[in-house]
Amino acid sequence: MLIKMKDIVREFDLGAVKVRALDGLSLEIENGAFVAILGPSGSGKSTLMNIIGLLDPPTSGDYYLEGESVSEFNDEQLTKTRREKIGFIFQKFNLLPKLNALQNVELPLLFQGVDKKTATLKASHMLELVGLGDRLTHKPNELSGGQQQRVSVARALVADPPVILADEPTGALDSKTSKEIIDLLEKLNHLGNTIIIITHDQNVARRAKKIIYISDGRIDESFDLREAAYEISN
Ligand SMILES: Nc1ncnc2c1ncn2[C@@H]1O[C@H](COP(=O)(O)OP(=O)(O)OP(=O)(O)O)[C@@H](O)[C@H]1O
Ligand SMILES: [Mg+2]
Repeated sequence: MLIKMKDIVREFDLGAVKVRALDGLSLEIENGAFVAILGPSGSGKSTLMNIIGLLDPPTSGDYYLEGESVSEFNDEQLTKTRREKIGFIFQKFNLLPKLNALQNVELPLLFQGVDKKTATLKASHMLELVGLGDRLTHKPNELSGGQQQRVSVARALVADPPVILADEPTGALDSKTSKEIIDLLEKLNHLGNTIIIITHDQNVARRAKKIIYISDGRIDESFDLREAAYEISN
């Protein structure tokens, strides 16, 4: 199993009040999956994504990534594991504005200690794959929204991480461009990448192979997949 979580709780302590964003959530995601996470605003989707991506620790519960208990990792191990195993795609792209497309995509490789020449080669190859072979030296503000998101897809994938996490990757894109990004993610899934995507967009969700519905910080067991398929296709 690629990801296994058991009884994950995440509480935010705001002094007088505690917010329980995840309330004993358990899930399993296998290698090669294409999972869409759906649920109302505030239900805990991004909190879950940040825990899966090792950006934030759970308050309690067990998390195994490729069989390893990451709950026991120290900061150094977490950073190393994150760099090797996780690729992130965000709604607002999160590209470095002073770096051009090629340099943005090279970054995860350089962090991993890959030499500059190899990094350049791999990054340009990845940008070609997402259709930006002719935009290597453009900075983010010289690219369209869809192109910026394609750069961030390339950055997420360049180090070939086993897990791709996307938190509303099409949230800032028009419907035509978001279809292009989803086509690209689907293509990558066919090539073997595991994709976990948070979305509010039903056109995006219906492309996934599996849907997980979150409500009040838990998996909503009452959510019937056939009903969902019906709702989503109508
Ligand atoms: N850093 C934080 N400090 C305090 N509370 C937080 C923090 N992050 C999230 N929360 C709270 O946890 C709950 C879940 O938030 P989360 O961002 O996971 O929701 P979401 O499902 O991603 O919502 P949306 O669809 O609006 O992005 C919310 O009630 C939110 O206010
Ligand atoms: Mg969110």
